[in-house]
Amino acid sequence: MKIGILGSGVVGQTLANGFLKHGHHVKIGTGNPVKLNDWIKSAGTDASVGSFEDAASYGEIIVLAVKGTAALLVLEKAASENLKGKTVIDAANPIAELPPVNGVLQFFTNQNSSLMEELQSKYPQANFVKAFSCVGSALMVNPDFGGAKPTMFIAGNNDDAKSQVKAILNTFGWETEDMGKVEAARAIEPLCILWCIPGFLENRWMHAFKLLKK
Ligand SMILES: NC(=O)c1ccc[n+]([C@@H]2O[C@H](COP(=O)([O-])OP(=O)(O)OC[C@H]3O[C@@H](n4cnc5c(N)ncnc54)[C@H](OP(=O)(O)O)[C@@H]3O)[C@@H](O)[C@H]2O)c1
Repeated sequence: MKIGILGSGVVGQTLANGFLKHGHHVKIGTGNPVKLNDWIKSAGTDASVGSFEDAASYGEIIVLAVKGTAALLVLEKAASENLKGKTVIDAANPIAELPPVNGVLQFFTNQNSSLMEELQSKYPQANFVKAFSCVGSALMVNPDFGGAKPTMFIAGNNDDAKSQVKAILNTFGWETEDMGKVEAARAIEPLCILWCIPGFLENRWMHAFKLLKK
């Protein structure tokens, strides 16, 4: 499929490489194409770079991988007609421009709201699915936990979009736990805070969540 990735940072590039590895075509959207000069040299012929609008228009599936504080602005640049009816994989977290407190990140949302709800209500015709937000970029694509599959928590209002994301996650080496509708992003986004604590306190960044069930 054609994947339009909004975001030139480590997450945008990592997921772009993951989609390329699994046979998809990728365009990364950015406001600073020079940032991707090195990436594009090594990414191969199925990869390209453009504006946020170019990437959104190109993608049959969109990935949102920008700084949480810039998410609304970037989606505005991407243009609503390019999001209409499409699955938007939302990896963004609402991290505030404030330092962590004893390793605990600060969010600009409160516990009864989430970034993805804000985005979904602004773009009701796009099908947002929260995914990849609760793990570090180094582990997003086919992480090696000695045979154990980590769990990716997803949420979103559209079941077909979630099925698409589940299939992608399966290819990327994850088991999926569907936590329901968009409001579940209130619980998934803060997992990023929990995930980062061992990193900030002990420089441990190579872990992922696993839901044990019986
Ligand atoms: N880093 C991780 O391991 C990790 C893991 C899980 C989730 N996340 C989440 O994934 C998202 C991306 O993270 P990241 O670490 O790759 O990089 P990031 O620094 O959070 O985001 C980089 C992207 O944000 C855009 N951006 C930043 N400020 C902007 C502004 N004022 N206006 C327009 N665009 C702006 C940049 O645009 P340009 O392309 O124009 O420079 C770039 O595409 C974040 O929401 C983060 O919380 C990160």
